[in-house]
Amino acid sequence: MKIRNLKSDDIDMVINLLINSFSSRYNRPPFVENISDPKSITIVAELDDTIIGVASLYIIQKLTRKMGLIEDVAVEYEKRGQGVGKLLIKNLIKKANLQGCDKIILHSSQDNVSFYEKIGFKVNEKQMILRNN
Ligand SMILES: CC(C)(COP(=O)(O)OP(=O)(O)OC[C@H]1O[C@@H](n2cnc3c(N)ncnc32)[C@H](O)[C@@H]1OP(=O)(O)O)[C@@H](O)C(=O)NCCC(=O)NCCS
Repeated sequence: MKIRNLKSDDIDMVINLLINSFSSRYNRPPFVENISDPKSITIVAELDDTIIGVASLYIIQKLTRKMGLIEDVAVEYEKRGQGVGKLLIKNLIKKANLQGCDKIILHSSQDNVSFYEKIGFKVNEKQMILRNN
């Protein structure tokens, strides 16, 4: 298994993985600019020419600091519990540190809090949301 940056050939497999892991809300044309934008990094876990995991990091430039936002973390159902998710997150933490982020945030369901805590994240503040669609 290897962790590498997203390539355009991966997009269909990644979208399927996100739909299976989350919802059909992911069934939209992907923003392929992501692939060449250093502020928007998606990595995948590849095993035997199949994408079994995905995770994204967005670098957000604030007035005085940079922060990282981790989003869309998913591992193929049959491959869960084998360390793939942890490897993906650790890889993104390294990338965020290299880009000079002074903090990394993410949104977690209650079910996944322990997964992120094992990697070193702490529950902090409340998330609020206003959806347009
Ligand atoms: C959450 C998810 C990404 C974890 O990926 P994974 O590859 O199964 O996780 P790992 O095998 O790397 O787990 C690392 C550690 O966290 C633990 N862990 C994983 N998921 C956990 C959970 N939901 N609750 C508690 N512990 C969990 C593992 O047991 C392992 O513990 P260990 O280091 O003591 O052995 C995966 O379950 C998934 O894709 N879920 C559906 C999509 C989703 O909810 N994504 C997260 C959005 S917030």
